Amino acid sequence: IISLLDLAAKIKKKEIFFDYPEKALGLIFDKSSTRTRVSFQVAMNNLKGSTIDINPDKTQIGRGEPIKDTARVLSVYCDLIAIRTFNHTDLEEYAKWSTKPVINALTDLEHPCQALADFLTIKEEFNDFKNVVLAFIGDGNNVANSLLLCGALLGVEVRIACPKGYEPDKLLLKKARSICTNENLLKITNDPSEAASGSNVLYTDVWSSMGEENKKEEKDKAFKGFTIDRNLVSQANDDAIILHCLPAYRDKEITDEMIQSKKSRIFQQAENRLHSQQALLSCLLS
Ligand code: CP
Ligand code: NVA
Repeated sequence: IISLLDLAAKIKKKEIFFDYPEKALGLIFDKSSTRTRVSFQVAMNNLKGSTIDINPDKTQIGRGEPIKDTARVLSVYCDLIAIRTFNHTDLEEYAKWSTKPVINALTDLEHPCQALADFLTIKEEFNDFKNVVLAFIGDGNNVANSLLLCGALLGVEVRIACPKGYEPDKLLLKKARSICTNENLLKITNDPSEAASGSNVLYTDVWSSMGEENKKEEKDKAFKGFTIDRNLVSQANDDAIILHCLPAYRDKEITDEMIQSKKSRIFQQAENRLHSQQALLSCLLS
């Protein structure tokens, strides 16, 4: 991850260039996307390769062709596949049958490409991860899960504050704790103030993720008090920055004031999706 982040920083500063002509990245997206889809397309374009939209509604995937058949066929045409889907096990099934690398472009369980851009943004701010305390306030969802895993690999203190019943996946937390040299670095609490106090990265994501549209009302009630607002930010360190993977629901998980504030690095974070994924593609194609 450190190597990828260093490479991404060099790509961003235009200190290093890679060309992968004739290489193709297939994009299978079962859910909507702006940042992930477009940043992968532009990154591949910058590498002089191409992307192919393999939209499930326009291909035999939508008709239910088994993943094991699709994956084997696409492995012949494409050099890489990026997949955004619901069940994490479907992604694993693709990876099992594909002979080419499969990139997780978000599942219900994880969003690792987002975490790469997040830690690049954090590194740009603090130079290293030594004294970083990341407080994620919100749902123990895919984004929180990937922050835990990536934080564990990098030795960063990650605190997740979520309402009771919305904690991160237990198995994933166990895995993150087994990776971490000091398992006390990963903390789960139901108190946003406890997480925010003494932190220098405040991070949030939507309360209801894609596929949870029918849970909106129930979750809006459960997450009352978990908004990143002026009051919560004042409890963090003076040097604290604010992150959000976007898209955001203003005045639910975060106020418009905090998105626009001087502490916000949210649009730098979105930009970093491009550089970190270009680094990832370069590594996988080399
Ligand atoms: N953050 C993120 O993955 O955004 P998109 O859903 O727009 O890709
Ligand atoms: N947790 C959100 C992230 C969107 C980028 C979702 O899965 O919808």
